[in-house]
Amino acid sequence: MSNKFFFAIVTSLLFVACSKDKMSVTIEMDQQLESLIEKASPDGTKDFYILPGETDLSSIPQDPMNALTPERVELGRLLYFETGFAMAAIRESGMGTYSCGSCHIPEAGFKPGNFQGIADGGIGFGLNGEDRRRHPDYTESELDVQAARPLTMVNVAFVKNTFWNGQFGSKVANEGTEHLWANDPATERNALGFEGIETVNFAGIETHRYDINPELIEQYGYKEMFDAAYPDLEEKLRYSNYAGSLAMSAYIRTILSTQAPFQRWLKGNKNSLSAEEKQGGILFFSKANCSNCHYNPNLGSFEFHALGVKDMDQIPSYNASPNDLRNLGRGGFTKLDEDYYKFKVPGLYNIKDTPFYFHGASIRSLDELLEYKNQAVSENIRVSNDRLSEKFLPLNLSETEKNQLKSFLERSLTDPDLRRYGVDSVLSGLCFPNNDSQSRVDLGCN
Ligand code: HEC
Ligand code: HEC
Repeated sequence: MSNKFFFAIVTSLLFVACSKDKMSVTIEMDQQLESLIEKASPDGTKDFYILPGETDLSSIPQDPMNALTPERVELGRLLYFETGFAMAAIRESGMGTYSCGSCHIPEAGFKPGNFQGIADGGIGFGLNGEDRRRHPDYTESELDVQAARPLTMVNVAFVKNTFWNGQFGSKVANEGTEHLWANDPATERNALGFEGIETVNFAGIETHRYDINPELIEQYGYKEMFDAAYPDLEEKLRYSNYAGSLAMSAYIRTILSTQAPFQRWLKGNKNSLSAEEKQGGILFFSKANCSNCHYNPNLGSFEFHALGVKDMDQIPSYNASPNDLRNLGRGGFTKLDEDYYKFKVPGLYNIKDTPFYFHGASIRSLDELLEYKNQAVSENIRVSNDRLSEKFLPLNLSETEKNQLKSFLERSLTDPDLRRYGVDSVLSGLCFPNNDSQSRVDLGCN
């Protein structure tokens, strides 16, 4: 046997041995991740985390009082982006210029592309909403802008109590809070008995200055769609903000991050995650403790916790104030001292799409965010460390571990094609999701 030949055999044997080793390590990682997920899962199965398909309407969590139908979803999709109903603007220059899509933009993970969203009174869009600012015709207080980072629409079907403080929706965390709704113009709609999404949108369609009325419905050509979506509603409600907001609730329930690599892995495609991402997933469900709070299918939960992050008035922002009830979190709604500074555990898919984290958007990168979670020390002078959640503990993560977690958050949990939930045009033919002069330029509508 020539030396060369011998060398070739030895190296190829080595190579087989080595790749076999690598393979068994990968299989071990898959098995370890799988069993940790089963442990974290409220029903003990890994399938608990598989999101329903976006067109499999009967499998998507929904409100029996607003059951999902294709007609409702399609109508809602158009209304969500339709600038033609933006007719309750405060000033003439704001008429017909904004939509839900001004603040919940598909390409920005259904957030505004900035740390606050501006609808009425805003001008400009940039690439993904990052360039929107106050229109000179509007004073700051006239703007439709909120002193909290907008929440995502991704996997919102799995949210029962909406808003950072969970104040909307009559069930789950809000059972027993009935006495708080009666004299509160914001939450009195909870008494209608709808789920949190439907309830928040009844309020939101007014806050965000939509005016869906029979004349405009007729003019733009939406009448048949409203008839097909809500044939049993009396006409006064059918051609109004009421039916419009129900249709939008139906649509946003179908926004699911089903194409995220972690979803593919859960469904059996073990190659959809890299070894680094699998290590990150293992940390998420074990040492890093993330699944202690983030354990529902959207990787959020119905719990409220104080992490001591800053409020929006503590960074330069529009319309924020130290007296904003939003700063008190769950306590701003329940008025209970024990609920002060506690915020809802948000879902974690597509968080990398815009770099503004937490309710006050105080953190601007995933590296910073992971270091914050790693240290578990309050950054907000209003929230002393003894107020922090008992489940929020220092983690002692190494740099390598933080990078592994980051790959899991950044890549495994990102659906690369949320654009599929958008529309090509709206029936009014107007520019969308914004229609002011600068947005029209930015969006290529002229
Ligand atoms: C001006 C920006 C803006 C506009 C326009 C806007 N939203 Fe929002 N949205 C927000 C903010 C901010 C929050 C979080 C508020 C809070 O929790 O205090 C939010 C929260 C929500 C939530 C709750 C999500 C959750 O997980 O709790 C839903 C649902 C929602 N918006 C739907 C809509 C719909 C539908 C429209 C159009 C009618 C709309 N939004 C228009 C800013 C906006
Ligand atoms: C004690 C419960 C708890 C634990 C443990 C926890 N989180 Fe959170 N997480 C929250 C809460 C509550 C918020 C929102 C806090 C706020 O904005 O005031 C949050 C926010 C986030 C956000 C920002 C989301 C957004 O939309 O701004 C990310 C990302 C995140 N958590 C990831 C993680 C990771 C990764 C881990 C593990 C290292 C983890 N969390 C551990 C409760 C928890």
